[in-house]
Amino acid sequence: MEKIIIGVSSSIAAYKTYELTRLFVKDGYDIHIVLTENALNLVSPLTFETLSGNPVYTQSFARERREMGHISLKENASLLLVAPATANIIGKFAGGIADDLLSTVFLSVACPVLIAPAMNPGMYSHPAVQENIAKLKKWGAAFVDPSSGVVACGDEGQGRLAEIEDIFKAAKDAVKK
Ligand SMILES: Cc1cc2nc3c(=O)[nH]c(=O)nc-3n(C[C@H](O)[C@H](O)[C@H](O)COP(=O)(O)O)c2cc1C
Repeated sequence: MEKIIIGVSSSIAAYKTYELTRLFVKDGYDIHIVLTENALNLVSPLTFETLSGNPVYTQSFARERREMGHISLKENASLLLVAPATANIIGKFAGGIADDLLSTVFLSVACPVLIAPAMNPGMYSHPAVQENIAKLKKWGAAFVDPSSGVVACGDEGQGRLAEIEDIFKAAKDAVKK
């Protein structure tokens, strides 16, 4: 059973990862979800635990889990998929910042990394975000680019989370390589 870690950061598109999780589980993948603290405002760990059948991780320093979350999580992982990825988490990855569980997991894993950004088009086109993405690509991370259209805030341009089916397919291809 291939193990995939799915990192969920606090984009308005985070609810779409419920469906992504369901697709992976239906296809026989072992899914381990890491939510950022901010994502807890938008999606429910209980829903992800129910869909994945595994505990959901958020905090690096949770007292109820004795093991070091970022170390045990990465064991035997075939892929780290971050969907949706905020401008913030992309910036933290590119800056080598490890101040929460998801950014620490990113620095710890040896498996392939696939990132699906989602943000306001103005944020996505900002040179800070584009340079961070270029840096992560140079380091070997793969991306499922956001699509163009009207985003949740009403602005138009590139920034919408890619279609769930496209992220699902890209993730399965990344695991095979
Ligand atoms: C309702 C709401 C929706 C948001 N959607 C996005 C988004 O789609 N993309 C993004 O980069 N930031 C978005 N943000 C801003 C991030 O939540 C914010 O930058 C946060 O600090 C990111 O934290 P995280 O990366 O640890 O999850 C949104 C904020 C709110 C309040």
